Amino acid sequence: MRAPLPFERPVYVSRPALPPLTEYVRRLESIWATNILTNMGPMHEMLELAVGERVGAGRVSLWNNGMSALLAAVSSLQLERRKVIVTPFTFPATVHAISLLGLEPVFVDIDDSLTLDPTLIEDALTPDVGAIMGTHVYGRFCDTEAIDEIAQRHDLRVIYDGAHIFGRTAPVVDAERHRLGDITMLSFHATKLFHSVEGGALITTDQDLDRRLRLIRNFGIVNEHDVKGIGLNGKMSEVHAAMGLSMLDMMDAEIDQRQSVATRYLEALDGIPGLRVVSGGDGIVQYFVLRIDADEFGSSRDDLHTTLRSLNVISRKYFSPLCSDVEPYDTLPSAQHLPVARTAANEVIALPLYGGLSLEDADRIADIVRWHQKGGVL
Ligand SMILES: Cc1ncc(COP(=O)(O)O)c(C=O)c1O
Repeated sequence: MRAPLPFERPVYVSRPALPPLTEYVRRLESIWATNILTNMGPMHEMLELAVGERVGAGRVSLWNNGMSALLAAVSSLQLERRKVIVTPFTFPATVHAISLLGLEPVFVDIDDSLTLDPTLIEDALTPDVGAIMGTHVYGRFCDTEAIDEIAQRHDLRVIYDGAHIFGRTAPVVDAERHRLGDITMLSFHATKLFHSVEGGALITTDQDLDRRLRLIRNFGIVNEHDVKGIGLNGKMSEVHAAMGLSMLDMMDAEIDQRQSVATRYLEALDGIPGLRVVSGGDGIVQYFVLRIDADEFGSSRDDLHTTLRSLNVISRKYFSPLCSDVEPYDTLPSAQHLPVARTAANEVIALPLYGGLSLEDADRIADIVRWHQKGGVL
């Protein structure tokens, strides 16, 4: 097999979809007409409603990004017990949202689904644990039912980092009571299937929590006379909301295109020893992620990553490093023994997946993987 040719330009793991410029400009013109730029203006209100409809459960508040939304979510629970169970297999924002508020993360290992292993949570409980925070990795839900049972038994609150779930087809969330925990966060960052450049949302079924979150979003301001509690500026601007509205119109088309690319990858990668598709093959197309078993594959995930990068395919080791392996979390006692997460972090690799990726390019990327596995050397 001949060495594959490098891509002329870098092919990134994701490329933001963009609406037709005229569409976006039409919305900007309406912003210019109202002269309202932020503070929950008309675009914001429209997007909040539309996201709520697509989510299909709970009350949705929009935020200026997922990280500030997560911070607000944790802070809104006013936890007296200061430790929070959290997955190490996540983006740093999840764990930072705990630590920035002076709470202590307690890492619990994941299972083969790459989300929190519910069977390990109770062993990690101490009297000072007040909440559980799981991440719906690549858009696939944690075992919310099992987590809910544990939370009920031990009077714990539950937050989900659902940064990846808003790439699912509607309704994003089913009617199961346990699905949202107390609060679920969404990210609308430009790297996500749906984006508002920067942005995010919180979903809760609890009216009081929803009210508190909306106060936190606007500095705690109740009205011109009253401020209640500690808040921040988490508001999404009109310009961002306009982008969100334009992207929402295109979202199902983006999902369809990604599904075609994912199907092509599945066909082209079929039968490669030691390679398992762990995301993207089941209709949830936020990311296309492989796991590489080095022994069977004949080479490590890191070597594959190096080969892909040297041919201009910018794959990502998502999530690696583990949050429990970086400062300041690496010295926590709970960070020391997380074997399943550690193996996963050494094996996962995300391939480029976005609507604008041509099927020919998907074939070329899969060919590189196959060629590398067969021992190809550059
Ligand atoms: C799992 C996860 N949590 C949190 C975030 C942070 O969201 P944002 O970038 O919107 O602040 C991201 C990524 O962007 C993420 O992937």
